[in-house]
Amino acid sequence: MTDSVSFHRNSENVASYRCKVVEHRWVNDRYKYLRLSAQSDLASATRPGQFYQLKCPVTDQQQPFLLRPMSVYGVGPEPGTIEFLYNVTGVGTKAMSSLAAGDHMDIVGPLGNTFVLEPEFKRILVVARGVGLATMAPLLPYAASCGIQITAIMSAREPKDMMRDEFLRGVSAKVHCVYDNDGSSDVGAVEVLVRRILDEAHCDVVYTCGSHRLLMLLQRVLADYPRTRGEVAMEQHMACGMGACLSCVRMFDIDGDKQFLRVCREGPVFSVRDVVGEVEFG
Ligand code: FES
Repeated sequence: MTDSVSFHRNSENVASYRCKVVEHRWVNDRYKYLRLSAQSDLASATRPGQFYQLKCPVTDQQQPFLLRPMSVYGVGPEPGTIEFLYNVTGVGTKAMSSLAAGDHMDIVGPLGNTFVLEPEFKRILVVARGVGLATMAPLLPYAASCGIQITAIMSAREPKDMMRDEFLRGVSAKVHCVYDNDGSSDVGAVEVLVRRILDEAHCDVVYTCGSHRLLMLLQRVLADYPRTRGEVAMEQHMACGMGACLSCVRMFDIDGDKQFLRVCREGPVFSVRDVVGEVEFG
């Protein structure tokens, strides 16, 4: 891995790409892996935390204009390839799941900001649940390449849903797996585990994605660990994905200043401490 490991705000580099489906397969009974190939260098344009708008194929139930935001799961090894890992749930992803190798798909991106990973970090904690692991997976090889120790808490409904190998992709990490079906993923149990990890050794940053429950847990815990940063990749319904429609606005509290920000444009990565969990409208 030779690329920079410091991901601050990415420069504007958004474009539309017509991609060819190179590989598309089920990972388990709910998730599919998709690898696309484009004529352009997507690998050097894309950073961990960013997403693309994918134009879902037309079916009897699917309108042709629907764009589906999806986090990048990986790039490369060739410069023009990009990977996604997604949960087949709604009309758009069901239509996507019908794509076969050799089919084409249009994508727009890379969109949004990126996780911040500083080369001087010594230890990071990643808290992942469900498809959120796809968003954070690209961080791991970058962290490993500069000798950062990685600890991960992975949460799933039950062992058959756990995608440990898909998350690590050969990267060495200390992994704690927790499950809904035995209670180990309960908020109280995970909080004890997070505090134990943070007490054992300083973590420079905790990354998470997706689960509101885990986000609120981390916000509460990090209040007691002021030297540890927290970053979350927010999941939000999006229409345009480019800052124009305001459908993805959320409230944040930045140093006491309440602000509405667009998850697609100012995010999707925000400080865990800045997220406002519940908004009361007068
Ligand atoms: Fe349109 Fe964010 S999705 S402004």
